Amino acid sequence: MHTHSENSAARYGIVAQLLHWLVAAMVFVQLGLGIYAGNLPVSLARLKWLSWHKALGIILLALVLLRLAWRAFHSPPALPAFLPRHERLLALVVHALLYAMLVLAPLSGWLYASAAGLSVTVRGLRIRNLVERNPGLAAAFHDTHVIFVVVLASLIVLHVAGALRHALRHDGIMSRMLPWRRT
Ligand code: HEM
Repeated sequence: MHTHSENSAARYGIVAQLLHWLVAAMVFVQLGLGIYAGNLPVSLARLKWLSWHKALGIILLALVLLRLAWRAFHSPPALPAFLPRHERLLALVVHALLYAMLVLAPLSGWLYASAAGLSVTVRGLRIRNLVERNPGLAAAFHDTHVIFVVVLASLIVLHVAGALRHALRHDGIMSRMLPWRRT
């Protein structure tokens, strides 16, 4: 096992890998928390679970922005030329949309919570509201949040299917994002 912090031409570095798997795990938990909390009846338990969802969502948004910043200065390894052109194009489009939804899903949640007058705190630290309390706007942001989250979940299904396909073909693409295997 030998991994560099920088990306190389052939594989992702440890920082990109760490951010990838951390964001992946957190999105997974976040989907579960959102579905669970969002469907609880109005109660203290609902508020408690929602506050976990909001706090984790803000941390996730910060991590995704950090990831995008890291990526801007450390180009990912190019997809090898042996892959068909349409597959490289598909990967590019799915990755771009994933990043867009990873920003828009938490942002819409934050806008919804703000407009609904639900305060957001991360370990006691009060996060500012993005907009004034406004029930009409809250309803619109709620629907926007659900739509972005559904789009995000659909993209994740496509992304995982693509990764599995590479793993089954043993073409070395999957191991570029795994810390323990070198190709
Ligand atoms: C990647 C990040 C996020 C994901 C994947 C996510 C996912 C979800 C899901 C699956 C639901 C359930 C929707 C439903 O009721 O059908 C939900 C609801 C909710 N989310 Fe998020 N969320 C994220 C970020 C955030 C953030 C950052 C906030 C606020 C700061 C937030 C606030 C809420 C609130 C308040 C609800 C409850 C909606 C309701 O009243 O039913 N979310 N979220």
